[in-house]
Amino acid sequence: MPPLTLLGIEASCDETAAAVVRTAGADGPGEVLANAVFGQEDLHAAFGGVVPEIAARAHAERLDLVTERALAEAGLPLSAMDAIAVTAGPGLIGGVLAGVMFAKGLAKATGLPLVGVNHLEGHALTPRLTDGLAYPYLLLLVSGGHCQLVEVAGLGDYRRLGGTIDDAPGEAFDKVAKMLGLGFPGGPEVERHAASGDPARFAFPRPLLDREGCDLSFSGLKTALRRARDELSEAQGGLTRQDVADLCASFQAAAGEALAEKTRRACALFRSRHPEKNHPGAGRLAAAGGVAANRELRARLEQAAAGEGFTLTAPPLKLCTDNGAMIAWAGLERFAAFGASETVSARPRWPLDEDATPMLGSGKRGAKA
Ligand code: KG4
Ligand code: ZN
Repeated sequence: MPPLTLLGIEASCDETAAAVVRTAGADGPGEVLANAVFGQEDLHAAFGGVVPEIAARAHAERLDLVTERALAEAGLPLSAMDAIAVTAGPGLIGGVLAGVMFAKGLAKATGLPLVGVNHLEGHALTPRLTDGLAYPYLLLLVSGGHCQLVEVAGLGDYRRLGGTIDDAPGEAFDKVAKMLGLGFPGGPEVERHAASGDPARFAFPRPLLDREGCDLSFSGLKTALRRARDELSEAQGGLTRQDVADLCASFQAAAGEALAEKTRRACALFRSRHPEKNHPGAGRLAAAGGVAANRELRARLEQAAAGEGFTLTAPPLKLCTDNGAMIAWAGLERFAAFGASETVSARPRWPLDEDATPMLGSGKRGAKA
């Protein structure tokens, strides 16, 4: 295969992003020549969550700027690209539309082929971009908008082994932070306060652990935390710094334990489905999404995976959270295998595994697909 260079464009949630990725082979690893991301945290902070209308407007304003930035960083003109890849869903539809319209305009003006990419596939294939991970592998995707355990059997061949039935974990971290008066995004704040807290002070539920399978739930956990907060506030007239730390630590422990145990079960299931991966150390677990940045969670995942003979691969954070490089990479694999997309339409919902029963829940960060 001749080397391929793609521009990737992402605008499905609250990051306006463009990147340039090059590779000599479609199995990876690839080289990230530029990875420009314009965040919108400042625009949404006052609301404690992403406001779709504000996000869409910001994408429309900045897509051209972020693309110029990426090309300048890569030191390449548009004409040096072999194709353009763009997120066509799932996500907040205003942003997805802005990205798709922008990419269609670029493709039309330059005559470059266009590839529509599933945002979740972008996350799912990132370990191939960063580490050249071979198919098949198991993926845990945990972010503000997604939560699923997916068997990545090949390009376009995905099987969902489990996922959240309500909130995504990042969403739960954000809501907990909001309830405790901490900043947004909540994950890093909760992790910081949890470091000086007692994880055993509050016996929060470990959701769905008593149920078979790999599904998760975070909404009951969030409610339990709210109740504990209210009881403390009523009894003492407010929360001390230590109370906040203990609430954070207890929440993080409950969420982490549930995620680690469901991941362990998914590892066992994956192994039974891929007997060739049945010897110790052969299994690969990849973690992606903003919540995978949580150090305590990473440690728990590593331990759970090791118990099942799996090694954890976690791409660097800037490629774990939403970015254009993952879209360029997934577009590149698709372009190498199938050429340009025949049509590119914006899809608010677009499950990776089209055969899986739809999951419930569709929070502020868009459909969970
Ligand atoms: O992948 P991401 O950047 O965006 C999407 O949601 O797609 O993930 C952002 C989410 C936020 O909900 C944020 O609170 C959470 O990831 N997060 C964390 C941590 N860092 C970011 N959650 C727990 N611990 C962290 N250290
Ligand atoms: Zn994402």
